[in-house]
Amino acid sequence: MRKKVTVVGAGNVGANTAQKIAAKELADVVLVDIVEGVPQGKGLDMLESAPVEGYDVSITGANGYEATADSDIVVITAGFPRKPGMSRDDLLLANYEVVKTATESAARYSPNAVLVLVTNPLDAMCWTAHQVSGFPRHRVIGMAGVLDTARFRTFIAEELKVSFENVTAMVLGGHGDTMVPLVRFTNVSGIPLAELTDQTTIDRLVQRTRDGGAEIVKYLKTGSAYYAPAASTVEMVESILKDKKKVLPCAALLDGEYGVHGLFVGVPVKLGSKGIEHIYQIALTASEEAALQKSVEAVAELVEVLKQKIG
Ligand code: NAI
Ligand code: 2OP
Repeated sequence: MRKKVTVVGAGNVGANTAQKIAAKELADVVLVDIVEGVPQGKGLDMLESAPVEGYDVSITGANGYEATADSDIVVITAGFPRKPGMSRDDLLLANYEVVKTATESAARYSPNAVLVLVTNPLDAMCWTAHQVSGFPRHRVIGMAGVLDTARFRTFIAEELKVSFENVTAMVLGGHGDTMVPLVRFTNVSGIPLAELTDQTTIDRLVQRTRDGGAEIVKYLKTGSAYYAPAASTVEMVESILKDKKKVLPCAALLDGEYGVHGLFVGVPVKLGSKGIEHIYQIALTASEEAALQKSVEAVAELVEVLKQKIG
């Protein structure tokens, strides 16, 4: 039997995620959105490219959750993207309501699914989905680190004029301005980045990575990035569905790892059929540790706002 993935939110990230899942024949896809006709129309449009692209999966759209029953994975992209001048954090309260509603419904119909969160502010939305679903922590995962790392890899490859594929990078922390690109764990075919370029260049690439989302928002003006976010989400979905056990930076609920309790933070994890199968704790230098703690504090502030709201 084929696997089944529900993608909630048929906007830019959701539709591209659905299309890539279908194109890779990873699973049947159900697209859900509150706007009448949009998930149905986009789903049918994607299905009609199946004969041309040669994939055999079903893609359907719905405004409710009945059709999503027994999904293996539910990807939540529903919510508002940011506009120029907005930070991801400005979306907190509006997207809290969206993610809460979407998680409640999706979890009721697919109680054994792995939830992959995309909606911003990412780490706080993961916390929301975990609270609302009551799922164990290994089945609630946030997508951000794969994207942030992909941006860092892109900028390094362009700078050094090497293949994108040869660059391995690591970005930890929350998905915000305080994210922590780890230069020490970044290399080109095993050659440490610091051996290949000077500190001023590295600092510039690190800053561009931190500002990577805002750079796209500034160009687009009416929304945020979606091609690389969708590709990043699909890498996680594929690792889970195929039990590939890829080690990827993802937002995970920490329970003492890195000295953090009860918050979702981006850390290296092993993704397999059970969801998060291992959280890797790597020894950090004092300055890396300080940067991570600063990022954790930024996540904690947002979660505190949500806790006050819930009462
Ligand atoms: P979009 O505006 O294109 O799509 C959002 C969709 O959600 C819309 O179609 C809207 O109708 C739908 N929606 C709203 N409320 C809903 C509900 N209650 N149930 C179902 N659907 C609902 O936005 P886009 O570009 O797809 O971004 C989606 C979210 O993903 C944003 O919050 C954005 O900030 C975030 N994002 C996160 C990234 C990450 O790295 N974690 C990367 C890129 C985007
Ligand atoms: C990004 O980094 C908006 O979080 C999204 O592009």
